[in-house]
Amino acid sequence: MRGVRPALAPLLAVGVAGTTLIAQPGAPLPFTVPAWAFPTQRASGPTPPPDSVALLRVPNSSRFYTRTQIANGFDIPDWFPGQHPPMPASVQYGVRPDGRACGFCHLPDGQGRPENGTLAGLPVDYTVRQMRAFRTGERTSANPATPTGPMHTVAKGFTNENEVRAAARYFARLRLTRRNVIREVRDVPKTRIAGLLYAYDGEGTEPIAGRLIEVPESLERHELRDPWVRYVTYVPTGSVSRGRVLATRGPAGAATACATCHGPQLLGVGEIPPIAGRSPSMMLRQLINFRTRARQDSTAAPMYAVTDALSLDDMVALSAYVGSLPPSARRAPSTATRK
Ligand code: HEC
Ligand code: HEC
Repeated sequence: MRGVRPALAPLLAVGVAGTTLIAQPGAPLPFTVPAWAFPTQRASGPTPPPDSVALLRVPNSSRFYTRTQIANGFDIPDWFPGQHPPMPASVQYGVRPDGRACGFCHLPDGQGRPENGTLAGLPVDYTVRQMRAFRTGERTSANPATPTGPMHTVAKGFTNENEVRAAARYFARLRLTRRNVIREVRDVPKTRIAGLLYAYDGEGTEPIAGRLIEVPESLERHELRDPWVRYVTYVPTGSVSRGRVLATRGPAGAATACATCHGPQLLGVGEIPPIAGRSPSMMLRQLINFRTRARQDSTAAPMYAVTDALSLDDMVALSAYVGSLPPSARRAPSTATRK
């Protein structure tokens, strides 16, 4: 990365004059944060306590939990204990009163959910640094209403850095597997906001109108924290190929081609995180967060030159493209002969 930064320096200076919509210095062109990319539904009154009697399960799990157990951020449900190594305490139990367990939101196998993101396979130092950035407020969200709030509370709740590091090491060893499908459409099924993401809303469609809408195939399974529920991402027709061209050429020349820093298959290099196969709506929010300087941690700057050169449509296309890639390295073809 050190070799790349000087090449980017001139790009960072482009077009500072004329900024109207963004208050932060150094942001070159006006950019309007699209509200649709940050779905948030505020509770419209006190929520009733979850049911503590009925035993529920998800497909293929042999375990049963009540809704009270599923909503417990300090001893989290684990539907498939055989599918991941034993969790460290920070991932399973967290730290009371504010440090809810990482696995509560990001799931025990680190596959995450669109509103919080995958942690499986993230570099240890990246995770530790982001936790620090959430704690200090260097990392926020372009839309203050969502969805960094929970992460700020959690990051402040984890005051012992060793606990964060134990969690980071655990997640770094896990492998991300595909949980999402990309669908290019002119019209998207009708959706509504359910918590911090979209959910299907009855029959009928409406124009996609430049948006990227990620929806769980089953909201019920999402809410039960089933790590195997699939997510469908609807994007405008042509997004994936448009994203591929942008990613390959680089939005502002070769130095900004995604592979320059994220590696040839966009699976990350050193401390630079992987982006291939991750939740497209999460990736889109992060591009917007860099673009608006809501992410200001010590290593965010290389992404400013990249995102300053992107329109919202470009960001949608790139998020769809990177989301469509395999999330972990394909095994090298076996040379062993079959018996
Ligand atoms: C209450 C839910 C919740 C818990 C518990 C939680 N997180 Fe998060 N986390 C979030 C949300 C929401 C985001 C997305 C923030 C954003 O989009 O800016 C996030 C984002 C992150 C990111 C950024 C990922 C990226 O790709 O940049 C990291 C790293 C992270 N969390 C680590 C952790 C660790 C480690 C723990 C446990 C010590 C933890 N989180 C516990 C909700 C949670
Ligand atoms: C000059 C190096 C560089 C280039 C080129 C680059 N990135 Fe990045 N990217 C980074 C670094 C470094 C980070 C981590 C930022 C941080 O630590 O805050 C990052 C983070 C990201 C993230 C946030 C990931 C997360 O887990 O939150 C996304 C999304 C992203 N890049 C997408 C892209 C795309 C798409 C391209 C190509 C159009 C691209 N990047 C090109 C260096 C680069």
